[in-house]
Amino acid sequence: MSLEIKIKRTTAPKAKPDQNSLGFGKYFTDHMFVMDYTEGKGWHDPRIVPYGPLELDPATATLHYGQAIFEGMKSYNTKDGRVLLFRPQKNMERINVTNERMCIPQIDVDFCVEAIKTLVKVDQDWIPSAEGTSLYIRPFIFATDAVLGVHPSHTYKFMVIMSPVGAYYPQGINPINIYVESNYVRAVKGGTGFAKTCGNYAASLRAQADAAKKGYVQVLWLDGVEKKYIEEVGSMNVFFKIDGEVITPSLEGSILPGITRASTIELLKSQGTKVTERRISIQEVFDAHAAGKLDEVFGTGTAAVISPVGELNWNDQKITINDGKIGECSKKVYDTITGIQSGKLDDTFGWTVEVK
Ligand code: COI
Repeated sequence: MSLEIKIKRTTAPKAKPDQNSLGFGKYFTDHMFVMDYTEGKGWHDPRIVPYGPLELDPATATLHYGQAIFEGMKSYNTKDGRVLLFRPQKNMERINVTNERMCIPQIDVDFCVEAIKTLVKVDQDWIPSAEGTSLYIRPFIFATDAVLGVHPSHTYKFMVIMSPVGAYYPQGINPINIYVESNYVRAVKGGTGFAKTCGNYAASLRAQADAAKKGYVQVLWLDGVEKKYIEEVGSMNVFFKIDGEVITPSLEGSILPGITRASTIELLKSQGTKVTERRISIQEVFDAHAAGKLDEVFGTGTAAVISPVGELNWNDQKITINDGKIGECSKKVYDTITGIQSGKLDDTFGWTVEVK
């Protein structure tokens, strides 16, 4: 695909927020990327325009049936003045896996990576430099047919918006507490659990809100059939270090194939740590804790980066992990991944892509 990306710059740039109190996803840069899809014509009219609201027909299919998907990725300023993206190709490839499941047309991976690089360049001065900050990039696609029949749309919009962010959880790198959800389920095999589609997140809100009322930051989902095996946390994949071995649930169709998850596995293996992808039950985790063998628990995600878990509550049995402190393994993975992402460490894996 070789389309020209038209650029219309804003005439009213916004004031930049304070880098030390960004929070997550509250501020948006001056521009956004938009591209349309029309059946018979394909993706067309890629453009960068000033950030602003959309006008939608009230019958727009997405608003009714949720045929919509999204991605999350980040861009960093390095100390030596470069701008880096972390594994952007992987996010665009994952869009196509999600699109396939959601009957949304495939995108051209290389073209979309180029489009994102162009957008990042246009809003380069929005990339924060304070420790722990980055520019979060949110590509998304949604159905735009204005028809009430339930069927795949014939038209779509692909958009990218960007937000300077700090830590996803207010706790930052400090361990979070997690409620193990035994009532609601997130996904089942054959469903949409592996896809990054908006409905998965909408369906998670009830449990998330109930857990928040009990004072928990996130929920840990169990499998949708037996409510026995661990799947993932609301906004991240999850890892358990038991007796020196790192275990993470295997991808069997109901779990999001996280890019930070894959990077963590590759990194730990390269450092000689034994990493196993397999089914792991919540009982096994609690048994390991009782036997004094549960060394660490941590989550991985683009937004969450590496997030240690300090407490798990399963049916009111509470366990404290590593005295509620960040563990050695989580800290090392955090330091290495954020070091590579921000250009502080050599990228021996070839994960980063420079925006020039
Ligand atoms: C991300 O980590 O980028 C995600 O998309 C998770 C999100 C729901 C904040």
